[in-house]
Amino acid sequence: MRDIPAQFAYRSLQQGKSLFGVAHKQASTALMDLVAPGASSPTLAVGPELLRTLQARMDRLLERDWQEAIEGLYPRELLFDAPWGEWLLRYPLIWLDLPAIWARRQRRDVRDLPRNIDGRQYPDYYLQNFHHQTDGYLSDRSAELYDLQVEILFNGTADAMRRRVLRPLLQAVQGIERPRILDVATGTGRTLQQIQAARPGASLVGIDLSEAYLRQAGRRLHQSSGALPQLLQGNGEELPFRDASFDAVTCVFLLHELPAEARSAVLRECRRVLRPGGRLVLADSIQLADAPDCATVLENFRRVFHEPYYRHYISDDLDGRIANAGLQLQGAESWFMTRVWWADRRSED
Ligand SMILES: C[S@@+](CC[C@H](N)C(=O)[O-])C[C@H]1O[C@@H](n2cnc3c(N)ncnc32)[C@H](O)[C@@H]1O
Repeated sequence: MRDIPAQFAYRSLQQGKSLFGVAHKQASTALMDLVAPGASSPTLAVGPELLRTLQARMDRLLERDWQEAIEGLYPRELLFDAPWGEWLLRYPLIWLDLPAIWARRQRRDVRDLPRNIDGRQYPDYYLQNFHHQTDGYLSDRSAELYDLQVEILFNGTADAMRRRVLRPLLQAVQGIERPRILDVATGTGRTLQQIQAARPGASLVGIDLSEAYLRQAGRRLHQSSGALPQLLQGNGEELPFRDASFDAVTCVFLLHELPAEARSAVLRECRRVLRPGGRLVLADSIQLADAPDCATVLENFRRVFHEPYYRHYISDDLDGRIANAGLQLQGAESWFMTRVWWADRRSED
């Protein structure tokens, strides 16, 4: 049965988040043009037709998010879940951080990282200020602001897009009493949180290169109900797990931040740690081939934000890479700015 008041509440919440995201971006761009005109780059501004396309894509995503909650795929409370108090406190920090971001942009400095970092621990491609973000992925300050920054970027739809991995994931582990699920590049643990709520009995593991992001994930996951996921620092290209040790693997918003060879290496590793018949569910940016009407947005995105591998990513043959990694593609769908692929390791592998 449709619950009209709750659906209205969800729509209103999302509308509020969306307006907030748009207002923040407009205000910060206007301020940047005033205070630091040299830091200016093409903006994310779009014409009316593209705006309608984006709005329609977003509406479709939110409708699906609501429907799947109503069907009981995940608890409805998840749609309203966010660390509101924390975000309120952190929002001023986003503004205070802007001058440092503009200064880095003006200097074209994309390797402005904390001095105490031992660079030998990380792949070279990782040691950058992705999205011009202060400290890259390498400090607690960055980890504390990340979720809010992503919410603003996607006008409050980040979790709704992450939740699109749940249907193919849950289908794959149906009937397994305590499935083992790995989330590669788990970041601050938002995807793990969605999985934990949808499949409380699962044994969850998250891995990421950033210790600071894992600390943030630990704090967040500690507050939610369900068994605490195991969190490990490590590289998705060399997963520290035995062959065939997981029933399913997820990987959300990582591939576009990797050079092409690393993309393939991560996919091969995901296959290796899956048991025969196990499933990989990927979610990442849409690409030019599946969303040609969004080409301007995709092109602008890489210009406005420092995303060094995005240009290659948006034209990359990911279906081919998935097949070359030894996985059988089962399906793919696009939801607003995210594409989801699911692919299985052969049962006889
Ligand atoms: C855009 S964030 C996505 C985080 C999270 N999955 C989410 O949905 O918000 C990319 C994450 O990938 C991690 N990362 C980048 N390269 C990695 C690698 N080779 N192995 C493991 N983690 C990596 C970063 O530290 C960061 O947390």
